[in-house]
Amino acid sequence: MSPKQENPIRVLGISGSPHRGGNTEQLLDRFLDGAMDAGGETEKIILSTLEYHSCRGCNACHKTGVCVIDDDLIPILTKKVPEADVVVLASPIYSMSITAEMKAFIDRAHTIWAQKFKLNLVHYTEEHFISHPGYFLTTAGMERPDIFDYSYPIITAFYNGFGCGYTPDHNITAPGMDRWGGIKEHPTAFTFAYTAGKEAVLQLEKMRAEDRDK
Ligand SMILES: Cc1cc2nc3c(=O)[nH]c(=O)nc-3n(C[C@H](O)[C@H](O)[C@H](O)COP(=O)(O)O)c2cc1C
Repeated sequence: MSPKQENPIRVLGISGSPHRGGNTEQLLDRFLDGAMDAGGETEKIILSTLEYHSCRGCNACHKTGVCVIDDDLIPILTKKVPEADVVVLASPIYSMSITAEMKAFIDRAHTIWAQKFKLNLVHYTEEHFISHPGYFLTTAGMERPDIFDYSYPIITAFYNGFGCGYTPDHNITAPGMDRWGGIKEHPTAFTFAYTAGKEAVLQLEKMRAEDRDK
């Protein structure tokens, strides 16, 4: 494990699985373990433990840039996600897409979309996208090749709003849970998640060092 950093890379993991300690949360834990071992500061949010509502579609945020609903998501959407260096969304596939918990969370980020696209309050540079990577960790019972395809556009929309760089190599997928009988038996998922967490922090540390040397 790396020594404690003064200004560590902040890694925020958000799980949309309602199943505590299940396949998806375990996968997220591996990513966060890797990030922590590389010297990152990690935090895990479990959406199912929070009190929050889905978007009402009132579109008030199109005019004000602020959500009319005051609940547990507000500090996450206005502080925790914007202040994180690395964001990790984790969700199992339920009924062919992300869970209701994760979808409701992402819909509530419509406020951030409004700030950017309706009110022109936010502009992210290319450098911002590179220095704020977004990841998606996901698990599914089935092995059909398109099982995760319905989720990717939703995750892309979320990360675009926050200026996070989300590319296909930032997906850690674990299909075939029905066959494997659980994430621990999956041949690659834990290793890939741990390595991705570690690499995410090391990469950002390297970029910071290069900036200091300029
Ligand atoms: C309500 C529900 C719906 C599901 N729907 C699907 C599905 O459409 N396709 C699929 O491949 N797996 C589906 N699964 C299986 C889960 O994606 C899989 O077991 C996953 O690893 C569970 O993760 P968790 O332990 O974090 O809940 C479903 C599971 C549940 C509980």
